[in-house]
Amino acid sequence: MAMILRKIRDASAQKAHFRHNPGVSYRLTLMLSPKKPAAEPEFDSQHFRAALSQFATGVTVITTRDENGGFFGLTASSFNSVSLTPPLVLWSLGSHSRGLPLFSGNSHYVINVLAADQAALAERFASRADDRFHGVDFTLSQTGLPILGGVSAWFECHNRSRYPEGDHVIFVGEVERCAFEAKPALVFHGGRFAEIGV
Ligand SMILES: Cc1cc2nc3c(=O)[nH]c(=O)nc-3n(C[C@H](O)[C@H](O)[C@H](O)COP(=O)(O)O)c2cc1C
Repeated sequence: MAMILRKIRDASAQKAHFRHNPGVSYRLTLMLSPKKPAAEPEFDSQHFRAALSQFATGVTVITTRDENGGFFGLTASSFNSVSLTPPLVLWSLGSHSRGLPLFSGNSHYVINVLAADQAALAERFASRADDRFHGVDFTLSQTGLPILGGVSAWFECHNRSRYPEGDHVIFVGEVERCAFEAKPALVFHGGRFAEIGV
């Protein structure tokens, strides 16, 4: 009851500051019922995956240290920007990834944005290869993590926060350093790699 009264009070407070704009109609909806859970999906995960694949993304390789002082990296297309101030980015990692304990426990990771001619690197870092870094050209970031040679941009991130959702964990990184070189980009669309840009 107290919650309902609070909602009504908040709603009238909003109304009090409401300036009427002639010609525009408004509807004030009071949500008195508890939030309804989502309905069951009307599709299977194959259909969902196919629909998602129509969203063209860039391709990244995200690197960190492993428990033996070596490196771990994986291909990820879930990268996106979040905030300019502070500089935040996000990406998501499957809960069954071998990298989950590493990315969860380490203080930093590097997000490498692949250039158009780097599809082979994307395949390698998505493969079951034990040493994905074998023969790969890289330098070390300020925190000692791999920055791959030839990438069009990299972001060295502090591991700011993590949000488990469904079968993935969303990582939000606070960018401490980044660099770029304008180049044609590698994109992933409809389950295939393509090239785009200058
Ligand atoms: C283009 C592409 C994009 C991918 N994006 C992601 C992603 O955003 N998150 C993720 O967890 N896996 C993603 N994967 C899958 C992982 O790269 C791969 O399945 C994973 O590295 C498997 O091994 P792991 O247990 O060593 O992580 C992607 C794969 C490809 C080919």
